[in-house]
Amino acid sequence: MVKLVKTATEFELSPTLAANEMVKSRRAEGKKAYHMGFGESPFPVPERLKNALKNAVDRKEYLPTAGLAELCETVAQYYKEKAGLDTSKFDVIVAPGSKLILYALQMAIEGDLLMPDPSWVSYKPQSRMLGREVIKVPTRLDGEGYHIDAEVLKNVIVQARKEGKNPSKLILNYPSNPTGLTIQEDELKQIAEVCVAEDILIISDEIYGFVSFDGVYRTIAKYAPTHTAVTTGLSKHLSLGGWRVGIGFIPKAVDGLQGLLRNIASETWSCVPSPIQQAVVEAYKGHEDIEEHIQQCTDIHKLMNQYIAKGLRSLDIHAPEPQGAFYNYPNFETHRGSLAKAGIKTSKDLAHALLKDYSLATLPGSAFGAEPEVLTLRLSGCDYDGEAALKAYQNGAKLDEGFIEQYAPRVKESVQTFERFIADVSGKSKAA
Ligand SMILES: Cc1ncc(COP(=O)(O)O)c(C=O)c1O
Repeated sequence: MVKLVKTATEFELSPTLAANEMVKSRRAEGKKAYHMGFGESPFPVPERLKNALKNAVDRKEYLPTAGLAELCETVAQYYKEKAGLDTSKFDVIVAPGSKLILYALQMAIEGDLLMPDPSWVSYKPQSRMLGREVIKVPTRLDGEGYHIDAEVLKNVIVQARKEGKNPSKLILNYPSNPTGLTIQEDELKQIAEVCVAEDILIISDEIYGFVSFDGVYRTIAKYAPTHTAVTTGLSKHLSLGGWRVGIGFIPKAVDGLQGLLRNIASETWSCVPSPIQQAVVEAYKGHEDIEEHIQQCTDIHKLMNQYIAKGLRSLDIHAPEPQGAFYNYPNFETHRGSLAKAGIKTSKDLAHALLKDYSLATLPGSAFGAEPEVLTLRLSGCDYDGEAALKAYQNGAKLDEGFIEQYAPRVKESVQTFERFIADVSGKSKAA
C-alpha cells in the first residue's frame, strides 16, 4: 500500500479555501450566502498593468532565480521611497507569491518558529511540514493595535530555551491577518531590540503594508536591518493574488541566506512566469495612476471594515477599529453565556452555527492559532463588486453608509445577520 508521510494527517485543505468552496456551492444552488471567510481584495486589474501584460505575452524565457534584474532594481527603489526601507542592506528575491518565500525562509533558517497568537493560517502548517516546533507568543488586541509585549516575548524565548527548544525566528504580520490591527512604531522598536539581543531572525510579513488606514507604512526592518527578512508582494494592495508575485528583502548581514533561497528557488519554482515579471515592473515605477488606484482601494477597504467593526460593537461584541488590511477579528466573550445555552462553546461552533443557520461564512479564531474555546472569528470585508465600487468612488461617490448600501449590500446584510444571530441566541437563552 502506498503510504503517506505521517505528518500528512495534520494538514487539511486551508480553512480559507474550505469556506470559499462552501459559499460557492450554496450560490450555485441559487441560495443566498454571505462571504466573510475569504480575504480576496475585489478590485480590478489597473489598465496600465493589463496593457503591460499584453505587451509581454511573447516573453517565454526562463529568468534568473532571484528575479528579473529590472524588476528587482525597480522594487528596491520603490520600497526605499515609499516604505523608508534602506534597501542597500537587502537583496531582493521574486517568487510565485510571498507564501513560498515565507516557506523557503522557514526552510532556510534552522530552529523553531516564534508565532504570535493569533497569526495567519499558513505559518504553522509550513513550519510543521518542515518538522519544526511552533512556539506561541501571546498578544493583546485593542483600539490602539496588535500588541506584542517585548518583555513577554523575551520570557517566551528564555522559557523555550529552558525546555530544550531552539527559537530562532519570529514571524510578524502588520497590518495583520486576522486582526486588521497593526503594531505601533514604538513596539516594533522594542521587539527589534529583543530579537537583535537574542539573535532571532524576524520574518516581517508586510503583505498588507500599503493597505494601512493611516497611510503610514511600518517596517521593523528599520530597527533591525541585520535581523529582518521582509516579505511582501502584489496580492493585497493591488488585488493581484492570482498573478502570484511575491517579493522578499533578504538581509545581506545573514551570510549565505540569499544564496540558499536562490538554490531553493532553482530546485523548486525556478522563476515567476516571465510575462508577469516584465509586466509588474510597471507596478513599481511610482506611476500616479497606480498610486491613486492603491489609495482608492485602501479607502474603500477602510470604509467597509470599519463599518463592520462599528456594527459589531453596537451588539456589544469586542471589535477594535481596524487599522489596515481587510479584516475584523471580533471576540464574542460578552455573549458567552447565551452562546453556551445555544450549544456554542468554541470558535468552531460559532462559525459552524453562522454558516449552517445563517448562510454566513466566517473563519473560527482557532484556524489562526487561538485556543478552541476563545470565541473569536475572522471576518473579511470583501464581499462586494470591487469594480463597481471603485468606479463609483472615482466618479465622486462619497464613502459613507449610503455607499455601502448601494455598492456593498451583502456587507450591510452580513452585519444585519449578526444582529439577528445575537437576538436569536439571546432570545433562546432567555427562553431556556
Ligand atoms: C498574512 C498573509 N501573508 C501572506 C499571504 C500570502 O500572499 P501571497 O502568497 O499571495 O503573496 C497572505 C494571503 O492571504 C496573507 O494573508
